[in-house]
Amino acid sequence: MNSAQNAPLSPKLTPNMGLKHRNTFGFEVSAELAYEITAADQLPLLIADIKKNKMPWRILGGGSNVILPASLPGATLLMNILDQEIIQSDDSNTYISVGAGVNWHEFVSWTLEHNVPGLENLALIPGTVGAAPIQNIGAYGAEVADFIDSIEAFDTQTHAFATLPKEACQFAYRDSYFKQHPQQYIVTRVVFKIPKAWEPRIHYADLAKQFIDHKVRPSAQDIFKAVCAIRTHKLPDPKVIGNAGSFFQNPVVPNAQFETLQLQFPELVSYPDQTGMRKLAAGWLIDQCGFKGKTMGSVGVYQNQALVLVNHGGGTAKDILELAQSIQEKVQKVFGVQLEIEPNIL
Ligand code: EPU
Repeated sequence: MNSAQNAPLSPKLTPNMGLKHRNTFGFEVSAELAYEITAADQLPLLIADIKKNKMPWRILGGGSNVILPASLPGATLLMNILDQEIIQSDDSNTYISVGAGVNWHEFVSWTLEHNVPGLENLALIPGTVGAAPIQNIGAYGAEVADFIDSIEAFDTQTHAFATLPKEACQFAYRDSYFKQHPQQYIVTRVVFKIPKAWEPRIHYADLAKQFIDHKVRPSAQDIFKAVCAIRTHKLPDPKVIGNAGSFFQNPVVPNAQFETLQLQFPELVSYPDQTGMRKLAAGWLIDQCGFKGKTMGSVGVYQNQALVLVNHGGGTAKDILELAQSIQEKVQKVFGVQLEIEPNIL
């Protein structure tokens, strides 16, 4: 066997790469060294090299859940492993193996085209398949964790590839082992396990409203279209107005604190939480503080959804974080609740 033929291709390197179009806030960002990762086997040598040179590094997927500074020193790894394949199908489940760089929404569309319903509630979420498990993306009553079989990743501590079963990923609301231990694993592939027994999930209020007059049970395609319509209406298109979706997590508070707040604010929007606590709608809290549609220099709060901060053009990470801080302070003062920022601040 000719070993040269089997050696992994080095990742493409671009020095001083502009990332304005690779972060959905549309911030002007320059990466000192940008490496395009197209195959998992490029990682061992590259990470060894980065560590040997004591370079700072980070992984960038779709750039839809990050707040990037104007300049990124060291190595920025652009995840671009692009393949997807149904690897197994039994009586109960369909298993699909997907490269970390695949666009999430395109993958959801692809599953429906291949008659594998299940992911339709998660349509139109920006970002990549590899980033989806990190913050356990969720919308309209579903979370990606519900459909994950295992994750393939490169462990930068042991320098070995690992397959993590779902149970090892510690998934919770917008949380996972990967989020808690940044830079330990580089996710290269996600294996999905999609149950064949399909039921429409339309209990989420916004979605239920869309089907109120329907006499027949909606199909996965109907739900997909409805979710796309709601998101298009409520959330700004990053190609038009820079944003990173929900900027804050919905805060989870003890029931006693919720009950006290509800006495004072009877309109308070909240949901029971999986952990037995109470999840408050951060968008409602921010809206009540009068921030919706407000601008602060080049950045602001989206007019249709107070949970989304936007870059109107020319804004920076510093501007967004200043606005976020004033929102956090006001919400803390009025409601005594601490809002946590959702996207990763690099
Ligand atoms: N609300 C207001 N004013 C606002 C915004 C919201 O009063 O400006 C109220 C709404 O009327 C509603 C409640 O707050 O009663 C909740 O709002 P919404 O249904 O829009 O959902 P959300 O809690 O704001 C979450 C996710 C979204 C996801 C939607 C739908 C988080 C942090 N956000 O938003 O996820 O699409 O539910 O499931 O959990 C994202 O993570 O980037 C994201 C967009």
